[in-house]
Amino acid sequence: MRHLLDIFDLTTDEIYELIKKTEDIMNHPNYYLDACHGKILGKLFFEPSTRTCNSFESAIQSLGGGVVGFSDPNNSSVVKGECLIDTVRTVSSYSDVIVIRHPQEGAPKVASQVSVCPVINAGDGGHHHPSQTLTDLFTIYKEKGGFDGLTIGLCGDLKYGRTVHSLISGLSRYKNIKLVLISPNELKVPEYEKKEVMDKSWMKYVETTSLEEAIPELDVLYMTRIQRERFSDEKIYERLKDSYILNKEKLNSAKNDMIVMHPLPRVNEISLDVDDDRRAKYFDQVRNGRYVRMALIMKLLSDMDVPDKKQDESSFRHDLKCNNPRCISYTEKDIKSAFRITDNGRCRCIYCDKEVAV
Ligand code: NCD
Repeated sequence: MRHLLDIFDLTTDEIYELIKKTEDIMNHPNYYLDACHGKILGKLFFEPSTRTCNSFESAIQSLGGGVVGFSDPNNSSVVKGECLIDTVRTVSSYSDVIVIRHPQEGAPKVASQVSVCPVINAGDGGHHHPSQTLTDLFTIYKEKGGFDGLTIGLCGDLKYGRTVHSLISGLSRYKNIKLVLISPNELKVPEYEKKEVMDKSWMKYVETTSLEEAIPELDVLYMTRIQRERFSDEKIYERLKDSYILNKEKLNSAKNDMIVMHPLPRVNEISLDVDDDRRAKYFDQVRNGRYVRMALIMKLLSDMDVPDKKQDESSFRHDLKCNNPRCISYTEKDIKSAFRITDNGRCRCIYCDKEVAV
């Protein structure tokens, strides 16, 4: 049984197969009407969602299956104090695949340790959001015909934006991609993503604070929202919230075939006057998400006999404690902490990937 916790759970070939499968579903949706007849998707949304939750529901229903679970934990026994592990055990017993979104980083990993069916991470804190990345990769592929050689600007909250982290990981597979990381100094890409993903795969990247300067060279501009809910100090959010606003005028200096993407929701980062521009692709992204998730659900259900990618747990250290307040092992008391040793001898929490000093 396989899970999708981060985008590295899929090989590059598998991502390509999913892209091709998605194209086929979009071209012939009627062929797939009964592909998951009788299958149940369990949703565990501990955080609000419009697109991800509805696209998964729409996906399973378009395949002939059904849905159980909750999109608001206040309507579940979570309010009575039920722990994450028991909630996952329960909903997974009624399901063939579960989708979990949670504010704590690593919660989907914990879910995968106890679930009796495959787990899909639908966003864990500021960590990962791999099914959005599949949607983003599909959209880039569809619009640009591939990935190699593209210059891609990621703009906004690169520190807390989980879609950005997963997308960087997804793009690190392809050749000659140049990333232009556009953010305020306080919201740069975390060091984990730089050291363990970008540097390891020799990705070319530059960091800048100026969207105006970056725009002319981009093939893709991926805008993101400043993630208000992840700030511990509201004043800092207020200062940074309108750092970047893409409008029609700024688009004038972009290439004619540059595409504008956004995982949505937008707050103020793209003005409504951009929506009519033919380069705006964020609502195509929304639409694509349903079909990509149909392909993903079918894949995980057909790979039930394929073993999950295993880490060598014998080398894990259990004598340390994660000090990241956003990590699931920090807040849920029954989770056994575990750290993997990195190439340079440092220890990283297996749930949130944060390094601890030893
Ligand atoms: C994103 C998310 O939840 O991380 N939305 C989505 O899933 N499409 C982006 C965001 O909330 O800013």
